[in-house]
Parts: sequence; C-alpha cells; structure tokens
Amino acid sequence: MLFRQLFDKASSTFTYLIASAKGREALIIDPVLENVEQYIKLLKELDLKLVKVIDTHIHADHISGIAELRDKTNCVTVMGDKTPADVVAMQVADEETIKIDGLELQAIYTPGHTIESFSFLMNDRVFTGDALLIRGTGRTDFQNGNARDSYNSIFNKLLKLPDETLIYPAHDYKGEMVSTIIEEKKFNPRLQVSSADQYIEIMNNLNLPNPSMMDVAVPSNLQLGIDFNRQKVNNGVEPEKFNEIKNDAQSILIDLREQNEIDKDGMIKNSTVVRFPEINEYLQQNKNTLKDKRILFYCAHGHRSTLAVQLSKSYQFTNCFHLIGGLKNWKKEGLDL
Ligand SMILES: [Fe+2]
Repeated sequence: MLFRQLFDKASSTFTYLIASAKGREALIIDPVLENVEQYIKLLKELDLKLVKVIDTHIHADHISGIAELRDKTNCVTVMGDKTPADVVAMQVADEETIKIDGLELQAIYTPGHTIESFSFLMNDRVFTGDALLIRGTGRTDFQNGNARDSYNSIFNKLLKLPDETLIYPAHDYKGEMVSTIIEEKKFNPRLQVSSADQYIEIMNNLNLPNPSMMDVAVPSNLQLGIDFNRQKVNNGVEPEKFNEIKNDAQSILIDLREQNEIDKDGMIKNSTVVRFPEINEYLQQNKNTLKDKRILFYCAHGHRSTLAVQLSKSYQFTNCFHLIGGLKNWKKEGLDL
C-alpha cells in the first residue's frame, strides 16, 4: 500500500493520499484548495490515478479542494450521507464500503463536531476527521455540533475499535501526526470522564475564543494570496451577475467585513453586516428566515465569502453564492457603492 500524510501549514490540516500500488487507483481524504497543484504533481510523480476524493465533514477553517480536484481529474467526490445533497457525487451511509482498486474503506457515522461528520476505517487505521483528535476532540459549539453526539461517536464507535488501531485525524496543532486507540483512551484529557454528562460539561465550557475557527487554529489562511479563478468554487459569481441577482426580492446580501474595512472602502447598498467570525451564530439563529432566501456573501477579496458559502452547507443552506474577488473586484468593474 502507498500511504502519504500531507500537511497544510496555514490551517494545520492533514490530507491523506492512499493507493494500493504504483500505476493504480488513488484516493485523497480532506484536500485543501491551496494545495491542489501539489497533489496533482505528486499523483503524476507516483504514477497514480485519482479516482475518489473524500471530505470527512464540512470544514470551517480551510476551503475544501474536492471541487477543484473533481474538475481537474474527473474523480468522484464522496461524503457521508448527512451532507447537503448538491455538494458531492457519492454519498455513503454508515457502515457502507468505499472501494478503489485494491483497497476498501468503511464509512462510520461519527457526528458531534458537526452533524455530517464521518470517519473512515481502513484495515489497521481510522481517519477520524475532527471527531477524535490526538489528545483532543473537535469542538462542538457550531456547525450544528452536539457534545452528546460527540461522546457517543467517540465512546460507542471509535473507542470500540481494536486498541492498536492507528488514528489519523484531520488536524493537529502541536506537531503530533498519528496516535492509537489505546493511547487516546489512556492519555486524551477529554476522554478521562466517567459519564456522557461529564464529557458534555467539559465541551460546553471550553470557552474557545473564536467560534468560526477550529479548536486552536488561527485563520492564517485568510491572509494568503488570492487567486480569483479559484474562487469559482463554492458558487462564486462574477461582479456583473452578482449585481443583477442582488436586486431580486428573494436575495439577502451579507457583508462579512469588519467595521474598519467598511469605513475605509464603503459597502454595497442594502447589505446586512455580519462579521465573518459571527457567521456561524448568525446562520444558526436565523435558520427560519433564511430558509427560503438566496444568500449572497461578499468580503474584501473573496476568501471569507468562499468559506462562508462552504459553512452555510452545515446549516443546510444550499442557495448561497459569493462575489468572486470581493469588493476589490467589484470596484474594478466600476459598480456602485
Ligand atoms: Fe472541522
């Protein structure tokens, strides 16, 4: 078997490349958009054909590379069946098997961090996404997360796997790369509890500073260079088209920027301001009013808005679009502020 663990520094995300052998089918788990070219180069160098790409859940801290990989390699996009329908080609149910040439993965539904989180078991190893991290567990305070579900997924599913099973998570912020079930049983501080209630108590009192980001991740990827073409993913819309659809009665226009950016650069008429760090809370609280709306996001350069569309899927909103290149691009086209 060929197995590679790749790391995205900006978001501390692990991406996994798996194949049975040279010249054969490959699979990628949790790709990061900014690294798609790197994956494609590696596939070529290793003489592999990418056939499937999986996201363990809807990520809040980086833009998924699955759409870009699908467009560039014609691979099949896969997620668990709790994900909104339009996102992926293949949805797998709990305990269903995902096959590629010479390899099989078993899907395990592990909600808690988010409602659509799945883990994937492959022989001696399990890819846990953010359901179970090394010496930690994924936060449960946004994206329809739930601490009791997290407890059940961990204690009644993942920890029931053989003790020597290797754990490969979606993130690590301390330099760890792999663990085992027995190690986490013994040393994961959040798992040293005697009841579900005790675990829920811990999870509900984490007081994490920024609800829009993972456990301790900093949104450093928000400052990376922006490639306008790539923002076509997650329903990116060009300024002219965005200008047209924003006037429909059905549309709601959301400005994700900070007040100082708005003061400096102005804003598009009739925008509702929801700072990006508050977007989870806003979507959660306004579920009913937003249900029948078309949500249009914009920000300064188009990165926060790309991520906002991705996050909206956690709340089952699929009628969401964002302005490619943000206000910078809008101004370049000479449109009204
Ligand atoms: Fe996550």
